[in-house]
Amino acid sequence: MNQGPTDLRDFIGEVESGGLLEQVPQPVSPDLEVARILAAKDGTPVLFRSVEGHPGYRVVGGIGSDRRYYALALGVSPDRLLFRLREALASPVPPPVDSGAPWMEVEEPAVDLLRVPFLRHWPGDGGYYATASVVFLHVPGNGYENVSFHRLLRLDSTHLVARLVEGRGAHTAWTRSKGDVPVAIAIGLPPHILLAASMSPPEGVFEMHLAQAMAPTPLVDAPLTGLLVPAAAEIVLEGRMTHNMAPEGPFVDLTGTMDIVRQQPVVEIDRIYHRRDPIYQALLPGMREHRLLMGMPREPTICDEVSKECRCLNVHVTPGGASWLHAVVQIEKRSPDDGIAAGIAAFRGHQSLKHVVVVDNDVDIFSPEDVEWAVATRFQADRDLRVMSDMPSSSLDPSAHHRPGVRSTGAKMILDATVPWDTPTGPAHPEAFRRVIGTSSRTSLLF
Ligand SMILES: Cc1cc2nc3c(=O)[nH]c(=O)nc-3n(C[C@H](O)[C@H](O)[C@H](O)COP(=O)(O)O)c2cc1C
Repeated sequence: MNQGPTDLRDFIGEVESGGLLEQVPQPVSPDLEVARILAAKDGTPVLFRSVEGHPGYRVVGGIGSDRRYYALALGVSPDRLLFRLREALASPVPPPVDSGAPWMEVEEPAVDLLRVPFLRHWPGDGGYYATASVVFLHVPGNGYENVSFHRLLRLDSTHLVARLVEGRGAHTAWTRSKGDVPVAIAIGLPPHILLAASMSPPEGVFEMHLAQAMAPTPLVDAPLTGLLVPAAAEIVLEGRMTHNMAPEGPFVDLTGTMDIVRQQPVVEIDRIYHRRDPIYQALLPGMREHRLLMGMPREPTICDEVSKECRCLNVHVTPGGASWLHAVVQIEKRSPDDGIAAGIAAFRGHQSLKHVVVVDNDVDIFSPEDVEWAVATRFQADRDLRVMSDMPSSSLDPSAHHRPGVRSTGAKMILDATVPWDTPTGPAHPEAFRRVIGTSSRTSLLF
């Protein structure tokens, strides 16, 4: 197992010693200013030493805004991250349970969420949100804890409203429970725990076992709810997800477009704990960190499905497709139909995927220019294109067909940009497709 940074401040220390941390010493406003600076520095971790109206708190953002930072946290090269996630999914490891944690140092005498530096991120947003908030709860009937990100809109000093995407773990727990659902909310976590919380393992697998497979992730029992929560957290809120509803949104979401206002469950907070000098974690919606945390965990599931058809070498869920709708799949082609078969399998690995480009091993899948080169030189639309209509689609794609209460639908497309095989054993003129100059340009930043 990797023995790299195990909590957020260890990780901040590592990026700082690598000369990668920006610091903002002067006080900044939680109302758009922190977010504006994070947007301007997207791709760089930024530590804000002082936030107006929130004495004692520092704020950090952007710690997962480039593949390089996850690579640093997991001790692998950026283009091998998929394989670390795949290993964790294949071999989860139960973490140790400690008797105490640094976040228990301070229990606020009275719950006052207004003291915690929730942020207003974009001008059209419905209010002050926590976005790096990881929610722990039990799914009744399943006997295991579910862990997932939920944006939380602050209503007042003790209430939040949580966005629950229908059909996911927390939504299932809430719909199955007649009464309140006890929750623990962790804020301020290192990259490997953020990644584990973004993954959707098979039912019965606790996401923290994936985290432990990537780096040490000791857990502790939260005092009020008894939920197991990472000892590494900076701030922990305990409370109840109620069946009272309140408007949530509008909110700038993953695609950079405005998500609508919905009636969503109110969370009542009963306890606030934090480290003595807490670091609040910011995560800028719609920007790189949000996109990477959405897209990267789909790469191993796509690779698994493609591997059932042919040899999958790598997968990149690309930022231009909001890190959710587009992927490049790299294969070792061994038969004429491998390209299209790999594309179809990719849709099984990630149902929200809309467009897939399949390439050979001489293409840098992290370079949009390289991928376009493969399309330009190896693809013919009347031979290598597959369009499929009326398929399951993402609720996040504004151009899809959306109906209330029903899974969205839309078209999917595969571009097979592998070298065409015009004989059963390979291309008749392989020389025509071989790169003479510019082989694997490696100009990508690996975002
Ligand atoms: C940064 C980030 C923010 C997210 N926000 C939400 C959210 O507000 N509501 C939601 O239901 N899912 C949200 N998600 C998605 C879930 O956390 C994610 O799909 C998770 O893997 C679901 O796991 P589950 O299917 O096991 O519940 C978010 C994901 C990320 C990475």
